Amino acid sequence: MSKNTDELFKNVIAHAKEYGFVFQSSEIYDGLSAVYDYGQNGAELKNNIKAYWWKSMVQLNDNIVGIDSAIFMHPKIWKASGHVDGFSDPMIDNKDSKKRYRADQLLEDRIAKYDKDGKTDKAEQLQLELDKALNADDLPRLRDLIVEHEIACPISGTRNWTEVRQFNLMFSTQMGAVADDADTIYLRPETAQGIFVNYLNVQKTGRMKIPFGIAQIGKAFRNEVIARQFIIRMREFEQMEMQFFVRPGTQKEWFDKWKEARLKWHLALGTPAEKYRYHEHVKLAHYADAAYDIEFEFPFGFKEVEGIHSRTDFDLSQHQQFSGKKMQYFDPEVDPETNKPYGNYVPYVIETSIGLDRMFLLTMINAYEEEDLSTEEKQDSRTVLRLHPCLAPVKAAIFPLTKKDGLPEKAREIMDSLKLDFNMQYEEKDAIGKRYRRQDAIGTPFCITVDHQTLEDNTVTIRHRDSMEQERVPADQLEKIIGDLVSW
Ligand code: GAP
Repeated sequence: MSKNTDELFKNVIAHAKEYGFVFQSSEIYDGLSAVYDYGQNGAELKNNIKAYWWKSMVQLNDNIVGIDSAIFMHPKIWKASGHVDGFSDPMIDNKDSKKRYRADQLLEDRIAKYDKDGKTDKAEQLQLELDKALNADDLPRLRDLIVEHEIACPISGTRNWTEVRQFNLMFSTQMGAVADDADTIYLRPETAQGIFVNYLNVQKTGRMKIPFGIAQIGKAFRNEVIARQFIIRMREFEQMEMQFFVRPGTQKEWFDKWKEARLKWHLALGTPAEKYRYHEHVKLAHYADAAYDIEFEFPFGFKEVEGIHSRTDFDLSQHQQFSGKKMQYFDPEVDPETNKPYGNYVPYVIETSIGLDRMFLLTMINAYEEEDLSTEEKQDSRTVLRLHPCLAPVKAAIFPLTKKDGLPEKAREIMDSLKLDFNMQYEEKDAIGKRYRRQDAIGTPFCITVDHQTLEDNTVTIRHRDSMEQERVPADQLEKIIGDLVSW
C-alpha cells in the first residue's frame, strides 16, 4: 500500500468507528480477533445492501425465491459436501513469532506488492507459479516460493518458516446435554448447503420449474487463522448466496449469464467500472467445473468480493448418496433432438456468492471523501460519504432552526409524516452548519431545516448532500422529493 492509500484505508476504518458503522467485537475486553459488530449506522447500511440484493435477486426474477435456513445442520451434510475432508487452507508458521499465516495469502500479498510497485512481469510470473502449486496441491512448492521471494513474517520480520500444512476451517461444537453422548456439529462455513438440502422442498411446494433459483442471506463461520484487513477476512461473516438449478448441458450458458448479471448489479450502484475486474480460478474448488471471482480494487489491491461458480451436480449428487433420498427433478419439457421429455435428472447448479461484509467495506471506501471546501477567505473541509441514496442509513435529517418558538414541534410533526417511509433523524443540537457536517459524515442525502417561515407558509429548506445546494420547498412535497431519489 502506498502512503496515501494506506492513510485512506486507516481513515475509513477510523470513520467507520467514530460514526457508529463498525466496532471491534468485545472491545471493552480488548476485542475478539477477526470478529466485528455493526453499529447503529452500520446496521442500517448493511440492511440496505441486503435489501438491494434481495430485491434484485428475488423480487425482480419470477423464477428465484428466497429462504432462511438454520445455521446448525446435520453433521453428515458437511461430510457429503466435502467440507470435513477438504475445506482447509495451506498454513505456514513463523518459528520466531510463532504466528501462523496462510501460505497462499502471503504470496498473493507479494503479488499485489509487485503490481503496486510496477513490477508487472514479476507479479504475473509469481501468479502463474502460485496457481500451478495450488492446482497440484504442492505444499512444499508453496514454501519454496515464499523463501524464493524472500517473504518475511510481518510480526518478527524474519524468514524462519516451517513446512506448509493443511488446516480445516470449520468451527465445531457439541449438540446435546451430555458431552459424552453429544454429536459434533459444525457452524456452517457457507450458506449454500442450506439451499441444497432444501432444494426439493422448495421446488415441490413452490412448483418451481427448471431453470429456477433459491436465494438466501445469512451468517457463515470460518476459523480463518489470520485476522487482517478489517472486515475483509472475518471469522463470523455474512453471505448472500443464490443457487440456480439448470438442466445438465446448459450450465455454461447460465454461468456466462450470471457472471455478466452480477457485475452489472455492482456497477448499477455507480461504482466506476475500472474498480472491478474478473479473476478466473485456475485451481477449482472440489465441486466446480468453472469459477470466476468479481474483484474490487481495495486500497490494498484487488480482492475477491463475489464468486460465480459452476458447481455441476456435485452437491445434489453427494446429498443423494449420503442421505439415500432422491434429489432428481422430472423435466416434462420435450427435447427437440429426441422428441421425448428430458425426464429425470439431478440438476446442475450455478452459484453466485457475495460476501456482505466485503460489499459493505467497498461501499464505505467508494463513498468516503475528504472534500476541500476552502475559499480565498477561509480554509474549510468536510468528510462526506457519497453513498448511493438507496443505501444511505438515514434518508433525511430534520432540524428546527432553534429550540424555541414551536419550531421543534413543527419539525417533529413533519418528521412523523415521513418516518414510516424513510429512516429519519431529528437533530436540534449545535449550529446548523455542524449538524450538516454530522449528516454528511454518515451519508444522509437530505437535510431539512424548519424555520420561522415554515410556521407561516409550511415551506422548509432542503439541502442536498452532494451539491450542498439549498432550496425552499413546500413541506407537503418532501415525500415525493425524498422518494424520487431514495427509492430503488
Ligand atoms: N458457497 C461458496 C462460497 O462460500 P467463497 O468464495 O468461499 O464461496 C464467497 O465465499 C464470498 O464470501 C467471498 O467472495 C467473500 O466475499 C465472502 N467471504 C468468504 N470468506 C470470508 C471471510 N472470512 N470474511 C468475510 N467474507 C468472506
